[in-house]
Formats: sequence, C-alpha cells, structure tokens
Amino acid sequence: MRPLKLQVEDLHKSFLRSGSAFKVLDGINLEVGAGEFVAIIGPSGCGKTTLLNIIGSLVKPDAGRLWLDGQPVPDCQGHIAYMQQKDLLLPWRKVLDNAILGLEVEGVPRKQACQRAHALLRHFGLAGFQSAYPNQLSGGMRQRVALARTLLLEKPLWLLDEPFGALDAMTRRHLHHYLLQARQQAPATTLLVTHDIEEALVLADRVGVLTARPARIKAILNVELPRPRRVTAPEFVTLKEELFELLQEERLETMIYDAA
Ligand SMILES: Nc1ncnc2c1ncn2[C@@H]1O[C@H](COP(=O)(O)OP(=O)(O)O)[C@@H](O)[C@H]1O
Ligand SMILES: [Mg+2]
Repeated sequence: MRPLKLQVEDLHKSFLRSGSAFKVLDGINLEVGAGEFVAIIGPSGCGKTTLLNIIGSLVKPDAGRLWLDGQPVPDCQGHIAYMQQKDLLLPWRKVLDNAILGLEVEGVPRKQACQRAHALLRHFGLAGFQSAYPNQLSGGMRQRVALARTLLLEKPLWLLDEPFGALDAMTRRHLHHYLLQARQQAPATTLLVTHDIEEALVLADRVGVLTARPARIKAILNVELPRPRRVTAPEFVTLKEELFELLQEERLETMIYDAA
C-alpha cells in the first residue's frame, strides 16, 4: 500500500437553512503529502466534519476540487478509510462483526478478516468483548471498535474525525502510540480532526487551524519535533501556546457572532 498525496483546492460549501444559505466552508486550500500526518483543529461548529465529509464523498461541495495523487477524489473512494465522528456501529452486529464490516464489503474471506480483527481488537483492549453488542459498550470502547474497523481496511488515506474524543487519558495515550506505530509499518496519509491541541501536537507533522465558521485555513504550523514527543519539552509548550492563542481568537469570534 503506497500512501497518496491529497490536494484540496478552494473548497466552498453552504447549507440551506430557513431558506437562506448558511456558509460553512469558505475556500479551503490544503495539501497533505504522501505519508504525511496533518491534524486540523478549529472551533466547534466551524466546519471540520463537513470538510472530511466532502473528502469522503458523503457531501458534495458547491465549488472546489479534490485530488488524490492527481486523480479526482470522487473516483478514488476505494483508497479512503473514513472514521466518522459518530461511530456508526451496527447495533445488531457483535463487536467482531462490526470490526470486520469493511473487510467483508471488500470481499476478504471471513476467516482471514477475523484473524486480522482479533489481533487489533486485542491491541485495543477489547479482547474480552468480541461477542458483545455495541449497546453493551462504553463510548470509548465503541470508538475503539470504529477505529479498528477503519484501520483494518489498510487504505492509503485515513480520515479520522475526533477518533479519541471519548477515551480516558491512558487509553488515548496508548492509541496515539499505536497509531504512530501503525503508520511506521504501513505509512498512510493521515488527516485527523481533533479539538485537542496537545493531541494534534503529539501526533501530526503539521497542524492546520481553521477560522470560526465559515471555515478558512487560518494558519498551518510545522511540528518539527522528534517522536516520541514530550509534552513538557519547551519547544512543545511554545507550539501549544501558539495554537492556543490562534484558537482563542477564533473562539472569541464565535462568541461575538453568536451574541449578535
Ligand atoms: N447537512 C447539514 N445541513 C445543515 N447544516 C449543517 C449540515 N451539516 C452541518 N451543518 C452545520 O454546519 C456547521 C458546521 O458543522 P460541522 O462541519 O459538523 O462542524 P464541526 O465538525 O467543526 O463541529 C454547523 O453549524 C452545522 O450545524
Ligand atoms: Mg465535527
């Protein structure tokens, strides 16, 4: 599996609300190099999920273009693994059957799919829950099943929408480590949405900050720190402060807008 370069060019999107256009994306330009890890942060409701939905071809843009290694993205959906913000587990399927869903759709024989899923679920601390149903799991466990389902697909582009949001701090750290290791073994181009500045800095090669809605790229920071990254390292703390300031400006923007 060869990682692919993603190019997002001048993406615009509005939704119709009470008969008028509600602008969400206002000209997003972004390039994620082959094998690169980019994190996107931005205020709540600014359009992060909409951006991933468009790349994942779940939502059509009003204008703009998307390329995966030079091919128009709508023609390359087979190369994309998208973990949506809502976990979308099927309530009538057990954990194992949810985890192998994507592989099943791709025609991987069940025995082979189960073997791969067993190993990953064990890694994710779900070994004893393979026969449980989603409604018997905590939010964090459901999220891990959804992440397993996404990573098992072994695609060259991962879109991850707040994949660790429901996890406790220790589990999150373990999964960060796992994700970085997995990318070392099979480098996938990765676009991660998170609201957690520290998470973005621990994981990504670059961090993109979105403005308050309608979203534009406000800034992109290079994170040139060796991994594993120490959150207490002075360079890390400086970048964290910088991102905090950038986000804070946009949060104030949102509050002023909401109050008007
Ligand atoms: N299908 C839709 N129809 C109308 N409004 C939508 C739709 N999807 C998202 N929105 C609105 O667009 C804005 C951005 O949503 P979203 O992309 O989910 O934000 P984020 O992920 O950054 O929190 C929100 O105000 C949301 O209510
Ligand atoms: Mg979202």
